This record gives sequence, structure tokens and C-alpha cells, in this order.
Amino acid sequence: MSFKEKINPGKLPLHVAVIMDGNGRWAKQKGKIRVFGHQNGVKAVRDTVEGAAEIGIKFLTMYAFSTENWNRPRYEVDALMELLVSTISKEKETLNKNNIRLLAIGDLNSLPGKCHQELQEAIRDTSANTRMSLVLALSYSSKWELMNAMKQIATKIEKHEMEASSVNEQTIAEHLCTKGIPDPELLIRTSGEYRISNFLLWQIAYAELYFTDKLWPDFRREDLYEAIVSYQQRERRFGMVSEQLSK
Ligand code: FPP
Repeated sequence: MSFKEKINPGKLPLHVAVIMDGNGRWAKQKGKIRVFGHQNGVKAVRDTVEGAAEIGIKFLTMYAFSTENWNRPRYEVDALMELLVSTISKEKETLNKNNIRLLAIGDLNSLPGKCHQELQEAIRDTSANTRMSLVLALSYSSKWELMNAMKQIATKIEKHEMEASSVNEQTIAEHLCTKGIPDPELLIRTSGEYRISNFLLWQIAYAELYFTDKLWPDFRREDLYEAIVSYQQRERRFGMVSEQLSK
């Protein structure tokens, strides 16, 4: 029985987030340069996006480039940006055909002009699609996002547009890049690393974490389905006890 067949369609996570890791190691194992790993990572992105939409996932967030990734060698950053531009422009039609909406979170203004422009066009041209939202995290880090939210809230308080005493969880959530997007119930990380790496720290407060040794370029929809089956086998207690959940 395949993992896909084992999935309970009534208990699907609404939002799955993915830390795509291991492109560099995958390339090294094959005696190639790191960029070769990123290029092959695109195939994994495509298959995962299609596979998620196929089973009815509503939100899929993928960590494509972190704030910290700007510190990589210049040639690798440039190659990643070019890959993003070419992938977004190439895949726009496929997104539309599959009724998938593209969104992006992160410090998008720090992206090179061409990348920013291509991204904004794809977001605009897919905005009416309703089957699934694909959220690309680009130049994203959670600490940057939280700092930004705090600054915005502090400014509103300073201008007397908001009372400090009225700030609650919802206020903070509404000032994050993910405003309007439900929190992920499942976070997947590839490549055998057990870290969160500054990704969606606020939003994953109650997410189930799933780690796999697969390197990202080898990841396919069946691996996504395996993660979802694992998620469905877990008991999500949200701080309560088992007996309370079965009532
Ligand atoms: C992590 O592997 C991967 C990245 C930093 C980039 C992910 C980008 C892609 C898969 C390509 C484009 C994506 C989209 C959405 C179009 P790593 O380089 O950190 O690998 P390592 O840990 O083995 O060095």
C-alpha cells in the first residue's frame, strides 16, 4: 500500500511548511558544484507542489532563501537568484493550469530587481487561483519578521493608533508576513538536520515536526505523503490530556 493510499483525507493538515535542505551535499556526493544541487532541487519543488495540490493541501510554504543565505559565496547567491527568476517565470503557466496561487513572505525588497519584478508579476497573475496557495519564503527569517512586527506595533502605539494594553496574540499575528495564512500543522525538514533555522518560529508553536534523511533533490511527493501519514498518526493535544481529546 502506498503512503498516498494510507492518507486519511478527512484529517489533512491545512498548511504544510518545508525546510528544503541538502542541495549542496547532494551535489557534492555526485562530484558536482553546489549549484547543481539547487538546479535539481527545483524538480523536487515541482513534484512536491503538484503532489500537495493533488491531495488537497490548501497552503504549502517552502523555505527557498533565508536572510542568512545572503552570506553564502557571491556566485552561489547569484545562481540561486537566477534560478528563482527562471523557475518562477517558467512555472507561472503551470501554476495557473493547476489553479495554484503564488504568495511570498520575507524581506522581498532586498531581492534583486529582476527577481522582485518576476515574483510580483507571478503573484499578481496567479492571484485569482483557489486550489492551493504556494508560499515562497524568500530573504526570510523569523527573527527579522518578528522584529519588523514589533516595530510596526510600537509605531502604532507611539502614534496613539493602538493601546499597548490591547496588544494580544492576534495583533502580533496580523503584523507578520503570514497575515491571513493559517499556522502550519506540519513542518518537514530534509537532510537529517534537526533544526528550525529561524523559520516561522511564531507560526509553528503547535506544528508537528517531521525530519527525514532524504536530501532535498531526492524528495518527491511520496515522501510528502509519508510525512502526512506520520502526522496523522500523532495525537495533537495542544497542552491538554488524551482523555479530554476523546470527549
Ligand atoms: C538548502 O540546501 C537549499 C537552499 C538554500 C535553496 C533552496 C532552493 C531551491 C530548491 C531552488 C529553487 C526553489 C524554488 C522554490 C524555485 P543547502 O544548499 O543548504 O544544502 P547543504 O546543507 O547540503 O549545503
